[in-house]
Amino acid sequence: KNYVSIGLLGLGTVGSGVVQLINNHQEELVHQVGCEVRVKSVLVRDAEKERDIQIGHTFLTTNSDEVLQDPEIDIVIEVMGGVEEAREHIIQALEAKKHVVTANKDLIALYGPELQKKATENQCDLFYEASVAGGIPILRGLSDGLVSDRIQKLMGIVNGTTNYILTKMDEDGLSYETALKEAQDLGFAEADPTSDVEGLDAARKMAILARLAFFTNVELNDVEVSGISNVSVEDLNYGNKLGLTMKLIGLAHIDNQQLEVSVQPTFLSKSHPLASVKNEYNAIYVNGEAVGETMFYGPGAGSLPTATAVMSDVVAVMKNMRLGVNGKSVVAPRFESVLKSSDQ
Ligand code: NDP
Ligand code: HSE
Repeated sequence: KNYVSIGLLGLGTVGSGVVQLINNHQEELVHQVGCEVRVKSVLVRDAEKERDIQIGHTFLTTNSDEVLQDPEIDIVIEVMGGVEEAREHIIQALEAKKHVVTANKDLIALYGPELQKKATENQCDLFYEASVAGGIPILRGLSDGLVSDRIQKLMGIVNGTTNYILTKMDEDGLSYETALKEAQDLGFAEADPTSDVEGLDAARKMAILARLAFFTNVELNDVEVSGISNVSVEDLNYGNKLGLTMKLIGLAHIDNQQLEVSVQPTFLSKSHPLASVKNEYNAIYVNGEAVGETMFYGPGAGSLPTATAVMSDVVAVMKNMRLGVNGKSVVAPRFESVLKSSDQ
């Protein structure tokens, strides 16, 4: 066939963005990879639900086998969220020799290395650029752009929902509850926003980043976490009087030859570059021995920005398909060195 066939798991905020991007940017995709990209079928919870998105001939199903066992589907994109069911679907897809792209940081933080191994055994790609910092290509930045360097420190805002809440409380005086509700309505928050506001989502992303930056395994339990659910407008006003802005900061750095990873609400001077990162935007400051200081900045959540990260992985898979190197690629982040370090 002269097109690539996609099976989607999930058609919510991110899945709809993926369908929209494929529909609207088909010309760019054809130019990059030399053939059309078509979404054949989508797994959803409720196939009868009214949806805003134009899906054309795409088939909605509640039966996962209709996506995962369809021999015509080349690439499965997992944007349904959750852990165990998503993990089972991804394993099934890889065993059926389908390449997998996922935005699921909960899953990658817990099972990334194991799923990578499964992908390699099946000569398939498993890519997950959208799992950290939405539209910012930070994983490729670390795995490709800065691959020759020795990273010394990562520091950043990696959760859009909490940054949105802190910005709205600080600048517009919104209550914590109202700001959270807005972040949910805009599609930034997780299905259960506890993981956003208690810092767990950011901790998962920091674990993924730290593995790639420091070539070592980082378990979630290794990350020291506190969230923003107890922060009040009064706390932020107090900081303002002292020229300080509060941000939920993820930090990974080497201290006394030990890698330390944490997520904590932190007061920053208003002149600090991370203090001016607002709303759902994220930014990650990376300090490398050779490159010095770099900063990656952009929308950390939301439908189309996250879809661009998903599609960057789809294009990487398709380029590998043309070269016949799936499962061996260096064009997207892999956990090979983490697997080696945990084998030792
Ligand atoms: P949504 O809740 O908006 O969408 C989830 C979709 O998956 C829905 O279409 C839902 O079906 C479907 N779904 C969920 N569970 C099941 C199930 N058990 N069986 C079948 N279908 C199911 O989530 P998001 O799009 O916001 O997030 C998806 C993933 O992307 C998550 O892993 C999230 O962490 C990640 N992510 C999200 C970002 C964002 O900005 N929202 C940014 C980066 C990553 P139905 O429509 O019928 O309910
Ligand atoms: N809930 C996440 C956030 C989505 O707010 O950053 C993007 O990973």
